[in-house]
This record gives sequence, C-alpha cells and structure tokens, in this order.
Amino acid sequence: VNLDPYRLPRNALPQRYDLTLAPDLGSATFTGHVRVTLDVTEQTPLLVLNANELDIHEVLVNGEEAPFSSEIETERLVVTPSAPLPAGTAELDITFAGVLNDKLRGFYRSTYRDPDGVEHVIATTQMQPTDCRRAFPCWDEPDCKAVFGVTLEVDPGLTAVSNGPEMAREELDDGRVRLRFADTMPMSTYLVAVVVGPLESTPEVDVDGVPMRIVHVPGNAHLTDFGMDVAVFSLRWFQDYYGIPYPSDKVDLVALPDFAAGAMENLGCVTFRESLFLVDPATSTQQERQLVADVVAHELAHMWFGDLVTMRWWNGIWLNEAFATFMEIAACDAYRPDWQRWTTFGQERSVAFETDALASTRSVEYEVRSPADSEGMFDVLTYQKGGALLRMLEQYLGPEPFRRGVAHYLSLHAHSNTETGDLWDAIEAVTGQPVRQLMDSWIWQPGFPLVRASHEHDELVLRQERFRYLPDAAAPPTRWMVPVHVRMGSAAPVKVLLDGAEARLPLPDDAAPVLVNAEGVGFYRVAYDEDLRSRLDTTALSAMSSLERYCLVDDAWAAVVADRMEASQFLDLAAGFADETDLAVWQALASGLRGAGRLVQGEDHERLQRVVRHLVSPLVERLGWDAPDGEPDLTGKLRGLAIPLLAVLGQDRESQAPLS
Ligand code: BES
Ligand code: ZN
Repeated sequence: VNLDPYRLPRNALPQRYDLTLAPDLGSATFTGHVRVTLDVTEQTPLLVLNANELDIHEVLVNGEEAPFSSEIETERLVVTPSAPLPAGTAELDITFAGVLNDKLRGFYRSTYRDPDGVEHVIATTQMQPTDCRRAFPCWDEPDCKAVFGVTLEVDPGLTAVSNGPEMAREELDDGRVRLRFADTMPMSTYLVAVVVGPLESTPEVDVDGVPMRIVHVPGNAHLTDFGMDVAVFSLRWFQDYYGIPYPSDKVDLVALPDFAAGAMENLGCVTFRESLFLVDPATSTQQERQLVADVVAHELAHMWFGDLVTMRWWNGIWLNEAFATFMEIAACDAYRPDWQRWTTFGQERSVAFETDALASTRSVEYEVRSPADSEGMFDVLTYQKGGALLRMLEQYLGPEPFRRGVAHYLSLHAHSNTETGDLWDAIEAVTGQPVRQLMDSWIWQPGFPLVRASHEHDELVLRQERFRYLPDAAAPPTRWMVPVHVRMGSAAPVKVLLDGAEARLPLPDDAAPVLVNAEGVGFYRVAYDEDLRSRLDTTALSAMSSLERYCLVDDAWAAVVADRMEASQFLDLAAGFADETDLAVWQALASGLRGAGRLVQGEDHERLQRVVRHLVSPLVERLGWDAPDGEPDLTGKLRGLAIPLLAVLGQDRESQAPLS
C-alpha cells in the first residue's frame, strides 16, 4: 500500500456514494450513513480513505463487519476486511456522527436572528479544499470523481437543498422528513453541498430549461432581484461561450449569513457569503453591484471550468481560479458594457504587479504536495495575475480562436481531470500557436517583464528585463515569451513575440507616435526612451483607449517608485490629462498623485497642489456636485474620486467647504 501521507492508494476507487445525513439543528450535531460502491482495481488487504473529526460507529465491507482505525494526523480511516478484497466491485457501509462545528469548514453551523431577536440555526457545508472528510468518510481527492446520491433527514418545516434537485419526500415515523435528491454527475468531493435550515426560496425561474432559485434567510426576498438577473444572464452567456449545455439539472444560489470565503462553486448549489450576493438596487453603490455580478459570474463559470473538467490535484487550483476570474470579467463586461470591466480590471492587474515586483513573489504554479501547500495559492497571483495572463493570451490569439480552444478542452476532458498543460495543448491544437511554451514562461517563473522601447537608427528596439523595485545585479536574467502589440501612428497594431533579450522592428516615420502594449492587455510594464516618450503628446493621448492611457500613467508611476523616473516627470505627464474623463485613468492618476504627495516637500509640494487643482478643478466643474437623474454609474464614481482629490491633495478651499 502506498504510504504517501497526502495521496490515497489507488487500489480501490469510489464509483458512487449513497449518502444520508441527518442534522439536528437544536443540538448542533449530525448522524450519517454512507454506502460507497467501490471499484477494487487489484486485490487488497485494506481500504484507506479520509475522515476527520467524525465519530465512526460501524463499518461493513460487503455486508460484513470490518475492524477499522482512525489516523488523526493524516485524517484517514483504515478499514481491514476479514479477508483480502478481490478485484471487482465492493460495497463499503459506514455509520458515523459528528458536530456541526463553528469552524466554517465541512458540515458547519451558521446562525441568524429574526426581527424578534430569536436565534435560528442553519446546517451548511464548505468542502473545498479538503473538508468533505469532515462531513462524511470519503476519498477526498479531486480526481476521485463519483456519483453522489444524497438523502437528508430533517425536521419538518425546514428547507433542505443539495447538488441535485429534490426527487422524493416521505414523512418518517418520528415526524421528520426524508428528502431524496437526484444523483449528481460524476464529480469531486470538494463540490458536494448540503444546506438545511429555516430558509426561504424565490420562485423558480426557467433559464432555457434549467430551473434557478435563490435560497435566503426569511425577510431577504427583496434583495434577490439583482443577483437573479446576473445569474440568468451569466448562465446563458456561459452556455454560449463554452458551446456546452449547463452540466447539471438545476441551479440553487444560497445566500448564507456565515461563510468563510466569498462564494463556492458547488455543482448546482452555489453558496455565497450573504453580503456579496444580496443587494438593494435602490441603495447599493455601483461597486457593490459590480462585486455581486463578479461573484455570481465567477462561480457559474466554474460549473464547466472546474466542475465538469477538474484539476487532477491541488497544484491546478491556480488555473481553476484564474480561468474563473477571466470569465467573470468577460461575462460582467457583456452584462454591463457601460461598466467597462476590462478597463477597470487594469487596476486589479496593477495590484498583482505590486506583489509580483517584490523579491519574495512566487511563480503562479508550483509543486503542491499537501493540500495545505495549495492554501497559499488562493491569492492575488492566482486570481489577478492568472486572470490577466489568460486575458493576454486571449488577445494575442484572438478572442474567437481562444474560445474555440477552451471549448475543445472542455469537451475533450468532460467529466475527467486535467493538468495545466492540457489546456495549453487544446488551445494549441486549435490555433497552431506555441501556447504551451509561451504560457510556461509566464507560470513557472516569478515576476514579470519591463519592456524597454527605444528608437535606434530607424528601428524600434524592444528589450526585456525583469521589473524590480530594487535592482538585483546578481540575479540571472529572466526571459519571457512576451506578446507585444505595437501601434505606430494610426495603423492597426502589429503583434511581436519578444522571446529573446531583444526584438527589432522598422520604424518608418520618425515623428509618428509609437505605442507599446497597444490595447493594454500585456502583463508587463513599458519604459520609453525620451524620443518615443515625447511622441506621446496630447494628440496621441486622445487617440488612445482608456486602458492604454491607464497603462501609460500606471507604468510611469511604477517607474517613479522603482527610481527610474523623477516624481516631477510624473507630474509633467499628469499635467497633460486635463481633458481626461475616464474613471480608470483617473484612478491611476489619483494613486500616482497621492503617492507623489507623500514623496515631495516644500515648494515641490506646492507645485503638486497646483497641478492637482489645475487638473481636477475643471473635472469637478464639469461633473458638478449633484448627480443628475440617469447619470451613468461610472460618472458618479468619478465624482466620488474627484472631489476628495481636489479637497485633500489639491487643498482647494471651495471643495473643502462647499456649503459655507
Ligand atoms: N473556489 C473558490 C472559493 C474558495 C476559496 C474555497 C478558497 C476554498 C478556499 C471560489 O470559486 C472563489 O474563487 N471565490 C471567491 C470569489 C470570487 C468572485 C473571486 C472568493 O471566495 O473570494
Ligand atoms: Zn473560484
């Protein structure tokens, strides 16, 4: 038997689980029974599976009582049948009990108070990454996919949901109710969900044949409309994008008062932290509604990417989350084009740049042995850097070839498990581009490039080096395969793959503006020599997209922090943005100006204040102090940025005390 403490032996694999759970909300405990139908691949003297903090009462193998022992350290249960099990099918029955814990893991307790102050208990689950073993004994690894047939025995009057739709309901002698849910498709244990409690649900909405509901604490029905609207939109949008029908029978969206993460992609039974899902359309801000749209789209994107096709092991978490992040922005952008989600995503990418410019950053993917190793993967490098890398790849290949590659990957590996490289290979097969080599250079190396652009003898020379805040002369050079999009004058951008130290392009016109990182989708920063920089004048700025201007400002400020540019040069650049109206660009300007405010003193600080007033006063004038009816969402957000900027950094008297 395999003794790796982190991987179960493969001598017996679950095909299906018939699981019965009976939570008692009053005492916050539960009892359970699971029958696992096993495929024994070779004759074996014992069965090894996972269980954690469960009280195991009885174990039967093929109907005969079998001794067992619990291994606390490795969270395992070892069962020894009286005689070695022959290859073939076997049946394992386990009776157990546990506590509805307050750790927000496994089968746990959530509570709310009603308007009379009475506390109510909900029993709910959070399995990812490895807490399914706290709810019932199981083969708790992502590639041990099996069918789950769930039965719940609950007190009458409670709402109970699980992954599949409810199929049958009977009253038990003791007055409780037994609910049977439809079998799931074969799926990983980390996607199992069960929620039982005094909850309400919205009427079912039919989304092209898929019933959808929101389950919530009583009294919150009026906060569900926005979430439902996004969910209906995203579910349709994803079916269309992936070219594959929704892989399960129904969607329940469950808003829970106590939840560790933001939301969880349980197949057909998505759970949410209530505050990230329920919003009042009348009083919520754009930021709150965008977050709801993001979270809903993100989890529904996982129904295919993650749930239908799943990582083989936890090293694959980054791709799972990065891809859902990419799709979340894409769906949100389609849902509300006026929110310009791909432009504002620039800011999230900048947050990833911040971490990734540090000496202590990590590569996006790395070897994972224990499930705990993967916990460090749920961070800005996985979600934001990973999502931005996929966006860069998509824009390099073209959105439609990229989409076809993704659809190919999903249909090729449906109901199965994959490694990261399987996605690159599928996109490569569809596009004929060196996708694996390109992406490997980004995901296995920490950091990101600075692309320097210079004009040398009628040529544009592009050179790459690692972007660092602190130069490290001793560090060996890193090379990425950088898809660089260059726009010269008003021509369509050319795509160059910078895969060595430098690349050269003819530079025909010696006055035309040259924009490196055209479209602003590259995961790199750009530094121009003086000649090229001076070509990006006000006229050139007005021909650039918002995201391109965002990158120009953000890269310039990062250059100041990295001591490659004077703060005064940043102010010179900023001074050219007096006509700017875009929120994202203003966010970059504001963060640079605020940063500069912390660096400069005396006369320089006075100059900074003048620059801020010169820039921001006309903006505040244009926007006014009051929001007119029907104003675009982002305009209101821009006002909220502009006025404090003028008042605090610009020390503008009038905006400090508008009412006096
Ligand atoms: N699978 C994650 C939830 C998760 C995170 C489970 C960490 C276990 C450990 C889910 O798909 C997710 O990414 N949720 C995000 C919200 C999203 C919109 C970024 C979260 O919880 O922050
Ligand atoms: Zn996710």
